[in-house]
Amino acid sequence: MNQPVMTGVAALNVPAYIKHQKLIDWVAEVAALTRPARIYWCDGSQEEYDRLCGEMVAAGTMKKLNQALRPNSYLACSDPTDVARVEDRTFICSKTKEEAGPTNNWMAPAEMRTTLNGLFDGCMAGRTLYVVPFSMGPLGSPIAHIGVELSDSPYVAVNMRIMTRMGKAVYDVLGTDGDFVPAIHTVGAPLAEGQQDVAWPCNATKYIVHFPETREIWSYGSGYGGNALLGKKCFALRIASNMGFQEAQSGKSAGWLAEHMLILGVESPEGKKHYVAAAFPSACGKTNFAMLIPPASFNGWKVTTIGDDIAWIKPGADGRLYAINPEAGYFGVAPGTNTKTNSNCMACLGENTIFTNVALTDDGDVWWEGLTKEAPAHLIDWQGKDWTPASGTKAAHPNARFTVAATQNPVIDPAWDDPAGVPISAFIFGGRRSTTVPLVTEARNWVEGVYMAATMGSETTAAAAGQMGVVRRDPFAMLPFIGYNMSDYFQHWLNLGQKVGAHAPKIYCVNWFRTDADGKFVWPGFGDNMRVLKWMLERIDGQASGVENVFGVTPEFKDLNWDGLNFTQAQFDQITSIDKNAWTEELKLHAELFEKLAYHLPQELVATKAEIEKRLAN
Ligand code: GTP
Ligand code: SPV
Ligand code: MN
Repeated sequence: MNQPVMTGVAALNVPAYIKHQKLIDWVAEVAALTRPARIYWCDGSQEEYDRLCGEMVAAGTMKKLNQALRPNSYLACSDPTDVARVEDRTFICSKTKEEAGPTNNWMAPAEMRTTLNGLFDGCMAGRTLYVVPFSMGPLGSPIAHIGVELSDSPYVAVNMRIMTRMGKAVYDVLGTDGDFVPAIHTVGAPLAEGQQDVAWPCNATKYIVHFPETREIWSYGSGYGGNALLGKKCFALRIASNMGFQEAQSGKSAGWLAEHMLILGVESPEGKKHYVAAAFPSACGKTNFAMLIPPASFNGWKVTTIGDDIAWIKPGADGRLYAINPEAGYFGVAPGTNTKTNSNCMACLGENTIFTNVALTDDGDVWWEGLTKEAPAHLIDWQGKDWTPASGTKAAHPNARFTVAATQNPVIDPAWDDPAGVPISAFIFGGRRSTTVPLVTEARNWVEGVYMAATMGSETTAAAAGQMGVVRRDPFAMLPFIGYNMSDYFQHWLNLGQKVGAHAPKIYCVNWFRTDADGKFVWPGFGDNMRVLKWMLERIDGQASGVENVFGVTPEFKDLNWDGLNFTQAQFDQITSIDKNAWTEELKLHAELFEKLAYHLPQELVATKAEIEKRLAN
């Protein structure tokens, strides 16, 4: 043990294997501010995970599920006010407002620090401060980055062990002076002497704050998902996207991309393999697409998963773009997941899973809307209340999630943690649109593809607090996740495309979500998305035809494989038709976005818009 340092309340008790003085000093400083009752340094062991889960069961934060039905699995139910990311409480505190851009909340760093110092003063009283060391990307790999999260939530500690490479080995990589991203998290619920804790402590006041210049993250008031598991959206998207951009700005390299993308491998019966990365907004089908099960008629086609939520992408030595998944687990949407829509996903969840905000069955297992056709006769809902099919409420919260290790995925790709990453053949962008946007469109070139991604709209989902089902612009599915000015982000994409030149992946835009007059999805989706994926791959290999339209190239009915599916030309027309009036309205929304982003907006995108308008008028 190093010399115990008193922090005012708790002793530091630094384990002897930690030799990084700057890290130790930082923990001491944060402890002096937040004044936890105890400091605990996570080692990432199974024993530690089991112990923390046991403590949370004792405290009422989690329930242990039926060991025979769902071995080593738990259910946590959050406070009903703390169920999703809080975008309106998320801040990018760059030096200037322009650097954060018009799509991010901004406050001057000094002012925000004053606010946070006030809020964090004594915020961990009565609680344990967990020191959570983690690596985004394979430990020690040249593309990985290290973070350390200081959190007063044991739920965060155990989830971070699943979602990242968390534990003692991180300190070997850090050595005495390695770089790390400091991330501070509190539920914002200090306990007075003798005060009884609640099952899910949190605070009505919430702040999710990023300081890009110093690469710091401060999170206050929430224990849920991306608000609290700071390796995920805060680090691997907001801070990392800024890092990749800054690297290009400094001229050190062409820079890199941190994207809200799944990465999958797809192999044809002839053994030809491609990797594609796809950006869909939150709760719009990434996890499902990443583990897609091709229809039975697609004999010999195999889809394998590299990642389901985040991709870090860099030009490789051969000039192509390579992608890695910086995460080690899935924090996926439970509702709608079942053995029919995705049995691979269900297979992940057989054991060693943390469920959050799903319902509890009478035999100690889990249930959510869409898991089975018929709901059980009785459940305990996510708010701990008795529930029956007559209750008229949802048994699971629409943003209920599972946390599970990537290694439990039966179709994990052999290269999923290869530090070299995998070469990307195509980027796919897709929103949730009940109207207007056709099933699939191929961009004729990189700039047109960037335009499609930049102007993408999607209906909001339960993944973020706020109104559901309203169409908003969600450029690159990154609206809530770009850690700098969005116009600069577009330019960074254009520059990288130019850099990789002829090696640039093809870009596609998809929409699985068009509905009919009854509001039902017309496209069967899920495994049948393979039909669209196959067309894309054939296009890449120069084997499939398509027709040019206003926006790019689209397949005709005859260009897709319909084996084993009864889908008519009329249905196809219903989801591929381009309504000129609807698109005239849509382009007004593009114009609105471009007006908002006028500062630094790449002129190539403005020119692309003008070309589309010209074609639309013809
Ligand atoms: P985040 O983890 O929030 O970033 O979301 P995600 O994009 O990984 O979402 P996920 O794959 O978990 O899908 C969320 C919802 O979309 C679930 O309710 C699914 O049932 C539904 N979904 C997924 N794929 C399809 C599809 O092809 N068609 C339709 N209609 N729904 C789908
Ligand atoms: C999302 O909202 O896009 C998620 C879930 O993947 S969270 O980790 O809460 O951000
Ligand atoms: Mn996500």
